[in-house]
Amino acid sequence: MQLFRAGATSVLLLKINGQYHAYQGRCPHQGAALVDGDLDDGLLTCPAHRWQFDATNGRGVNPESARLKCFPVHVVERKVLVEVELGGVNAEPEP
Ligand code: FES
Repeated sequence: MQLFRAGATSVLLLKINGQYHAYQGRCPHQGAALVDGDLDDGLLTCPAHRWQFDATNGRGVNPESARLKCFPVHVVERKVLVEVELGGVNAEPEP
Protein backbone atom coordinates (compact mmCIF):
# COMPACT_ATOMS: atom_id res chain seq x y z
CA MET A 1 0.00 0.00 0.00
CA GLN A 2 1.15 3.49 -0.78
CA LEU A 3 -0.38 6.89 -0.18
CA PHE A 4 -0.18 9.67 -2.76
CA ARG A 5 -1.47 13.22 -2.88
CA ALA A 6 -3.17 14.83 -5.87
CA GLY A 7 -3.96 18.41 -4.94
CA ALA A 8 -5.99 18.18 -1.72
CA THR A 9 -6.94 14.55 -2.38
CA SER A 10 -5.12 11.68 -0.71
CA VAL A 11 -5.11 8.49 -2.75
CA LEU A 12 -4.39 4.99 -1.46
CA LEU A 13 -2.87 2.78 -4.15
CA LEU A 14 -3.01 -0.98 -3.67
CA LYS A 15 -1.72 -3.86 -5.76
CA ILE A 16 -3.60 -7.11 -5.32
CA ASN A 17 -2.90 -10.18 -7.44
CA GLY A 18 -1.15 -7.99 -10.01
CA GLN A 19 -4.06 -5.54 -10.27
CA TYR A 20 -3.87 -1.94 -9.09
CA HIS A 21 -6.72 -0.31 -7.18
CA ALA A 22 -6.96 3.29 -6.00
CA TYR A 23 -9.21 4.57 -3.21
CA GLN A 24 -9.67 7.58 -1.03
CA GLY A 25 -6.75 7.69 1.40
CA ARG A 26 -8.82 8.54 4.46
CA CYS A 27 -11.36 6.26 6.13
CA PRO A 28 -14.98 7.34 5.59
CA HIS A 29 -15.68 6.80 9.31
CA GLN A 30 -13.48 9.38 11.03
CA GLY A 31 -10.70 10.01 8.56
CA ALA A 32 -7.88 7.77 9.76
CA ALA A 33 -5.09 7.19 7.25
CA LEU A 34 -5.89 3.85 5.62
CA VAL A 35 -2.25 3.37 4.62
CA ASP A 36 -1.58 2.66 8.32
CA GLY A 37 -4.15 -0.12 8.32
CA ASP A 38 -3.80 -3.78 7.48
CA LEU A 39 -4.14 -5.41 4.09
CA ASP A 40 -4.66 -9.14 4.40
CA ASP A 41 -6.11 -11.53 1.85
CA GLY A 42 -7.92 -8.74 -0.03
CA LEU A 43 -9.35 -7.22 3.14
CA LEU A 44 -8.37 -3.67 4.10
CA THR A 45 -8.79 -2.87 7.80
CA CYS A 46 -8.73 0.69 9.12
CA PRO A 47 -6.19 1.18 11.93
CA ALA A 48 -8.51 3.32 14.06
CA HIS A 49 -11.75 1.42 14.70
CA ARG A 50 -11.22 -1.65 12.49
CA TRP A 51 -13.80 -0.93 9.81
CA GLN A 52 -13.12 -3.32 6.95
CA PHE A 53 -13.32 -2.97 3.19
CA ASP A 54 -13.02 -5.34 0.26
CA ALA A 55 -9.76 -4.07 -1.23
CA THR A 56 -10.69 -5.23 -4.73
CA ASN A 57 -13.77 -3.00 -5.05
CA GLY A 58 -13.92 -0.65 -2.03
CA ARG A 59 -17.18 -2.06 -0.67
CA GLY A 60 -17.70 -2.14 3.07
CA VAL A 61 -17.44 -5.54 4.76
CA ASN A 62 -17.89 -4.29 8.31
CA PRO A 63 -20.08 -2.30 8.21
CA GLU A 64 -21.60 -3.21 4.86
CA SER A 65 -23.03 0.30 4.48
CA ALA A 66 -19.53 1.83 4.22
CA ARG A 67 -17.83 2.34 0.91
CA LEU A 68 -14.53 3.74 -0.30
CA LYS A 69 -14.45 6.17 -3.19
CA CYS A 70 -12.68 4.46 -6.09
CA PHE A 71 -10.46 6.17 -8.64
CA PRO A 72 -9.91 4.69 -12.11
CA VAL A 73 -6.41 3.24 -12.59
CA HIS A 74 -4.61 2.74 -15.89
CA VAL A 75 -1.22 1.16 -16.54
CA VAL A 76 0.44 2.77 -19.56
CA GLU A 77 3.98 1.89 -20.58
CA ARG A 78 4.72 0.53 -17.08
CA LYS A 79 3.45 3.72 -15.42
CA VAL A 80 0.48 3.60 -13.07
CA LEU A 81 -1.91 6.48 -13.74
CA VAL A 82 -4.77 7.33 -11.39
CA GLU A 83 -7.65 9.58 -12.48
CA VAL A 84 -8.43 12.10 -9.75
CA GLU A 85 -10.81 15.01 -10.14
CA LEU A 86 -9.03 17.96 -8.65
CA GLY A 87 -12.23 19.96 -8.05
CA GLY A 88 -11.18 23.56 -7.81
CA VAL A 89 -7.45 22.94 -7.66
CA ASN A 90 -5.65 24.56 -10.55
CA ALA A 91 -3.57 21.82 -12.15
CA GLU A 92 -1.87 24.31 -14.46
CA PRO A 93 1.03 26.40 -13.19
CA GLU A 94 0.13 30.03 -12.56
CA PRO A 95 1.52 32.40 -15.22
S1 FES B 1 -11.64 6.04 11.33
FE1 FES B 1 -11.62 4.18 10.24
S2 FES B 1 -12.90 2.89 11.38
FE2 FES B 1 -12.99 4.76 12.44
